Amino acid sequence: MEGLKANLTKQVFQNTNPRHFLDSQDFNRDELAGIFSFADELRAGATEESIRTGRDTFFSPDHRTLHSDKRITIASTQPSTRTIESFKTAANILGIADNAITDPGIMSMVKGESLSDTLLTFQQNSDIIAMRHYDAPSVIEAIKKLNIPYVSGGHGNGTQAESCHPTQSLLDVYTLQRTFGELDNLDIAFLGDLKFGRTINSLARMMAMYDNLHLHLCPTKGLEFNEHDMEFIKASGIGYTEYDNVLDIPHWVNVLYLTRIQEEYMPKGMNKEQYLKDIEPVRMNQAKLNRFSNDTIVLHPYPRNIDFEMDESMDNDPRFLPNEQMYNGVFARAAMFNEILK
Ligand code: NCD
Repeated sequence: MEGLKANLTKQVFQNTNPRHFLDSQDFNRDELAGIFSFADELRAGATEESIRTGRDTFFSPDHRTLHSDKRITIASTQPSTRTIESFKTAANILGIADNAITDPGIMSMVKGESLSDTLLTFQQNSDIIAMRHYDAPSVIEAIKKLNIPYVSGGHGNGTQAESCHPTQSLLDVYTLQRTFGELDNLDIAFLGDLKFGRTINSLARMMAMYDNLHLHLCPTKGLEFNEHDMEFIKASGIGYTEYDNVLDIPHWVNVLYLTRIQEEYMPKGMNKEQYLKDIEPVRMNQAKLNRFSNDTIVLHPYPRNIDFEMDESMDNDPRFLPNEQMYNGVFARAAMFNEILK
């Protein structure tokens, strides 16, 4: 099994110099354990207030000077609330100075500049780039010219053959580690848009590194996993079961992972409204959550679309952990920056 796992672990950019983070398998199990352990240390050193206000005076002084000689460029050509904010705060924790360009309308790419030329400009002013970009092939091509690390905050969408949102997987897996204490032997249910969502196939690939994973696939009708994802699951020997109703999922699963319908990636003529008529069996709410174990947690990468994949009735249930995911994300990303810069 270990041999099979080693073969499946692509670590596409692991051996590159500089070290990029583009695929959720770019760090192996041991490295992830190191990142999570440092994330725990950072988490213990920060106050809730430091995260809420983003004021680095509340972060641990021990960590604030760790990379205070470094600069990061954070950029995005797609909407983002959480990921970009999280990168900025993660950089602040380590004392990294951030240049952030989050309005694609003010980047020269709107004047026809290539992504490659844009990245080479960022490189002049920074030691690391963290970026969200809509087109996966152009990211993979453009980073070949870089001599500083590139961290993906999401590139392309879930229809790509590779995983495209590695830092979301990092914070999801860190949340699983903190909740369950171990990452082997987990039963994870995936709900919603398995076709266009990039968080789920990234997470499946990162979790494939751990033993005895079982996936419970409960997609919105018409938004099932792509063929390459099913091939990956079968080739990696991951157990899986398929459902069309959330209430058929065993009540003892460890995780219900919800996603919104990713309308922005749909081809012309498709829209999220057309899935509403079939959504009821996979929509989550408190009454359905009550059928699950007290130890089953609910994760969602957010943003959520109320009244599509879920309503607000679970918001006060202690098993519903999106805020915990966000909070963990800051420390997991900071620990990952540290790993890449050290
Ligand atoms: C996800 C993304 O951008 O792919 N969001 C995130 O990073 N937290 C999921 C989504 O947009 O639904």
